[in-house]
Amino acid sequence: MSLVSSDLTIADLKNKKIGIFFDAASSEKATYWSEFLKCPMFLVSSSQSSDFEMTKEFFFRIYIQENQVFVRDLENRLLEIDFDKNHLDYQRRGHHGKKELIAKALGASKGCRKILDLSVGMGIDSVFLMQLGFQVMGVERSPVLFALLSEAFQKTQKEYLKSYKLFFSDSLSFLQENQTTLEFDSIYFDPMYPHKKKSALPKQEMMVFRDLVGSDDDAAEVLKAALKWPVRRVVVKRPMKAEPLLPGVIHSFEGKVVRYDSYVVG
Ligand SMILES: C[S@@+](CC[C@H](N)C(=O)[O-])C[C@H]1O[C@@H](n2cnc3c(N)ncnc32)[C@H](O)[C@@H]1O
Repeated sequence: MSLVSSDLTIADLKNKKIGIFFDAASSEKATYWSEFLKCPMFLVSSSQSSDFEMTKEFFFRIYIQENQVFVRDLENRLLEIDFDKNHLDYQRRGHHGKKELIAKALGASKGCRKILDLSVGMGIDSVFLMQLGFQVMGVERSPVLFALLSEAFQKTQKEYLKSYKLFFSDSLSFLQENQTTLEFDSIYFDPMYPHKKKSALPKQEMMVFRDLVGSDDDAAEVLKAALKWPVRRVVVKRPMKAEPLLPGVIHSFEGKVVRYDSYVVG
């Protein structure tokens, strides 16, 4: 995997304070991420690390310990990205290969192979696309998620993920800056969608995730920029009942809960 970062800073976290808590064996890694995230780091023993009372001044605590990197929030809720564990369905069994809706939407049957994922998030879709045999390059702008993703891609034992390219950038500037240098067959975009029903509480990890990334209010602007690229398809993932992000959908590939809106560009 290769990592490329732009000059985004943790200003994007809207002043939610972050601290890194590491064990003695992880000081090099902790120093790297502490400089990247511009946040303080603290050496702790494993017995102290679960004592979050002493650390409640931090909105997010990043733990770098025993070859693991994960985040806890003020409520001690956990967010972890580990492609070798299956807690987030990273290893899908019984899938339908190129007949999966996401693959059809991205134009697999038309020979589309090189995909740009503008919203890597937890990496679930990117990893699935790699598993299906696509070549994927992904962009993520949340600095904490970028750190978790970077570590997960470096640590994974899955050979097919080794060629993944991850960028730390805002997709809008990425699209504006790289059009002449990079080539893709299709672009994939899955921005956050606001929850409407208060009762439909997401899983704990989803709550930490939402606090980290916010609401992606600029999604339509990103899509407009993507539609200017010389690719064959631009695909936007939406909840089934949501309105399209922009008009111009040529075909919607509908599942039970989500659909993939395909904009055919060229
Ligand atoms: C709904 S999540 C995507 C989930 C992802 N598809 C997955 O499978 O885990 C949206 C993610 O896209 C990122 N994102 C949204 N707009 C972005 C942009 N303009 N530039 C970079 N990242 C963006 C957010 O920070 C968030 O992590």
